[in-house]
Amino acid sequence: MKLISPSLLSANFGNLQHDIEMLNASECDWLHVDVMDGIFVPNISFGQPVIKHIKKYARKPLDVHLMIMDPGRYVTDFKEAGADILTVHYEACTHLDRTLHAIKDAGMKCGVVLNPATSVALLEDSVQLCDVVLLMSVNPGFGGQKFIANTYNKVRQLRDLIAHKNPDCLIEVDGGVNVDNAPLLFEAGADVLVAGSAVFSSADPAETIKNLKK
Ligand code: DX5
Ligand code: ZN
Repeated sequence: MKLISPSLLSANFGNLQHDIEMLNASECDWLHVDVMDGIFVPNISFGQPVIKHIKKYARKPLDVHLMIMDPGRYVTDFKEAGADILTVHYEACTHLDRTLHAIKDAGMKCGVVLNPATSVALLEDSVQLCDVVLLMSVNPGFGGQKFIANTYNKVRQLRDLIAHKNPDCLIEVDGGVNVDNAPLLFEAGADVLVAGSAVFSSADPAETIKNLKK
């Protein structure tokens, strides 16, 4: 599968409606929504009230990436705000199994996110619960960072793991994705690519989305 999930973190916060309508008309598949708490990651972005407005205009599923400690506390809040896919960090959950079940029970697709230094092997006992696994290809917290090349190995390791444990699970990659590394990531076995600055800093974001999918 080749899906693109542009990250609204790099959109114009002064006119989100404009950028969401551009994405609605583009070939993108999901809208990636980055929530940061200033504790799990150094940065603070936005929360449920803003997501409710994003949901009002979005015509594609909201792929909400929680970079917050103890995300299990907020599962129903993000459902109510409009999340369709909710991903939580392995490193931020004390009770990951409970949190993944809570996300499913709330009626959303669920996923685990791994930081660059967290091994794919740690998913052995949770990947069967996941609709998606998100591999960070930068250290989370900011847009516009450099892609970490070890991600290719992790995509291949994860392909092997899900082949045995959960063949329907999607592999998503987030951070420093651009038109140069996108074909290599798809080739390695990624299904969904998140792209923030590559899309929104380009002269023609809709055209860039099309090129990322090629
Ligand atoms: C980083 C976020 C990313 C970010 C990606 O912590 O999770 O989704 O928006 O931005 P780019 O594509 O610019 O690296
Ligand atoms: Zn993200």
